Amino acid sequence: MTVVHGSGIEIDNYKRIQPCLNLGTLGHVDHGKTTLVQAITGVWTAKHSDELKRGITIKLGYANFSVFQCPKCPPPYNFVTTPRCSCGSEAVFQRKISFVDSPGHEILMTTMLSGAAVMDAAILVIGADEVCPQPQTYEHLLAAEIMGIKRLIVVQNKIDIVSRERALKNLEEIKSFLSETRFANATIIPMSAQHKVNVDVLLYVIQKEVPTPVFDLGSPPRMIVIRSFDVNRPGTPVRDMRGGILGGSIIRGEIRVGDEIEILPGLRLKKDDTVETIPLIAEVVSVGFDNVFVESVRSGGLVGIGTTLDPSLTKNDMLVGNLAGKPGTLPPVTRSITLEYSMFERVVGVRGLVKAEPIRVGEVLNINVGSALTQAVVKDVKDNRIALSLKMPVCAEKGQRVAVSRLVERRWRLIGHGVLVG
Ligand code: GTP
Ligand code: MG
Repeated sequence: MTVVHGSGIEIDNYKRIQPCLNLGTLGHVDHGKTTLVQAITGVWTAKHSDELKRGITIKLGYANFSVFQCPKCPPPYNFVTTPRCSCGSEAVFQRKISFVDSPGHEILMTTMLSGAAVMDAAILVIGADEVCPQPQTYEHLLAAEIMGIKRLIVVQNKIDIVSRERALKNLEEIKSFLSETRFANATIIPMSAQHKVNVDVLLYVIQKEVPTPVFDLGSPPRMIVIRSFDVNRPGTPVRDMRGGILGGSIIRGEIRVGDEIEILPGLRLKKDDTVETIPLIAEVVSVGFDNVFVESVRSGGLVGIGTTLDPSLTKNDMLVGNLAGKPGTLPPVTRSITLEYSMFERVVGVRGLVKAEPIRVGEVLNINVGSALTQAVVKDVKDNRIALSLKMPVCAEKGQRVAVSRLVERRWRLIGHGVLVG
């Protein structure tokens, strides 16, 4: 029997409600991002065998959670992630949120930037046991600024292993660090993710400060693909095989079962030193999230799209960086782009001061456009404009934000950002 909730939503039916926004985790390696996601969702997102072996997050991690409001507990202790509050009261469903968990290791900066393409808001996790800011604390925060992430909440984590004095000193470091950024007024919550201390306070702040984005259901659908996979186990008979799956976020419109979608720039084929792409067309055979299948999915959090594509084309994240949408409505696919850019004064993400040298014709940069990442050769530099020839074509439109990285001390480091103008 299903019980009707205070909100009018049947208890079991909240499972069929789509996540409405993406919340990213940002911050330096080992500061507790994945532990925080687990404290809230119950899911350890770093499941890949290399991640388990090395103890760090390597790929973007994903997990959803639902927020319920307890009618009896006083704020800020009145939000929980289960239909029943620990006080015993039945709690009222509010909304479902998707976590996009970033890797903090310095060599995985471009992975974090791909995830940032779909983050509506983010939690910057700062370990209280280290001086703030650590290199990727700073680098991730700058990335949040330049990729246009609108809201940021700061978690001062690991307070269980520092003294009260150290926690207060660290809080001053955090405030002073934030004061020079766009997020100077961000709320800072002391937490122990490992011991689940202040999870309820974080839920309260998320509810208070992160609004549900307005859904644009009228436009033709467009989805940013941030993962793709083959769900068939080895040895599955051909007649039982399921088509390729795309995962990501819809930024406008709605995708329904039966829709035809175009995937651009499409399948990548390595050719000598460059990458050619072949556009793909497919039919949508299923849509859903968290193993729940529904009729249609709209803009908001993370969703999965089952397609008629050969699963060998989607396995191992092969289609990450693509856009999917109604055929004929996606932006042009191009290999030559012009950016209006600005450089940071110094190279970000390294310890100490390394001056960012001006961009030179002929140098090779890394460019993040949406969830796509490609190398690019600088063809021309004039004032604050650079013309680039991309190793791999991208499907992108004017006005889009682009992150620019350069190889410094054998690592790709963020050196600036730009807007696509041509
Ligand atoms: P990357 O994804 O590799 O950047 O790391 P991360 O930020 O996701 O850190 P992760 O959650 O993997 O935690 C790193 C280590 O810190 C693990 O050993 C956790 O158990 C520990 N840790 C995380 N949060 C806390 C906390 O609140 N208190 C204590 N004492 N340890 C914590
Ligand atoms: Mg992690």
